[in-house]
Amino acid sequence: MNVMGIDIGGSGIKGAPVDTEAGVLVKDRLRIPTPQPSKPDEVAEAVASIVRHFGWNGPVGVTFPGVVKDGVVLTAANVDHSWIGVDAAELFGGATVLNDADAAGVAEMTFGRGRGERGTVLMLTFGTGIGSALFTDGTLVRNTELGHLELHGKVAEHRASARVREEHDMSWEKWAERVAEYLKHVEMLFSPSLIVIGGGASKKADRFLPHITLDTPVVPAALQNEAGIIGAALAAAGGS
Ligand code: BGC
Repeated sequence: MNVMGIDIGGSGIKGAPVDTEAGVLVKDRLRIPTPQPSKPDEVAEAVASIVRHFGWNGPVGVTFPGVVKDGVVLTAANVDHSWIGVDAAELFGGATVLNDADAAGVAEMTFGRGRGERGTVLMLTFGTGIGSALFTDGTLVRNTELGHLELHGKVAEHRASARVREEHDMSWEKWAERVAEYLKHVEMLFSPSLIVIGGGASKKADRFLPHITLDTPVVPAALQNEAGIIGAALAAAGGS
């Protein structure tokens, strides 16, 4: 089945039709910059323009970088706060809407590094914020928000997201120390059997993962930047 997947991020909105059985994009993805400020109507117009670009009439799945419960946005840490309380599913014309990290995790569990993994698997995405997706024997526990755990009195994603590294021009090694500290905290809380690192930073995993030693295996995501699009499509196809 082909389903349109759209991934809303802090800096870009990306979409493409996805073959949900194969887990691949069937056309080149389209990326447009996230409108600034990222208010609901402007973002909805950007989402609609992606749908129009592909001349799409079928089902659509959309990720959102915040807590989404039954299609309604409950938090908006890295997008305009006017999103809180908005029924995004309705605003996007009846699309299936879910948290971005949850979508990426579902894709990674179905087609990527988490495939066939039992036990507790954590997908953590490092981008503008830190997103999390928690799986127990392959079942997703939605909206876990582990990027907002507190470390040294600070929100973890304010210390260790990929954006923090870029904004402070931090070396990979220095940033890896912060990521390691965060991962150890998460490891202590959940005793996972696998941690999958996704988000923009996963493309550069070789620069920081070698500096991180944990008891739990830590691996880069296989689907990288496309995980959100594929996971959004899977959710709309009824796969999550
Ligand atoms: C949000 C999460 C989101 C993550 C990655 C966090 O700030 O609270 O919902 O998954 O950023 O975008």
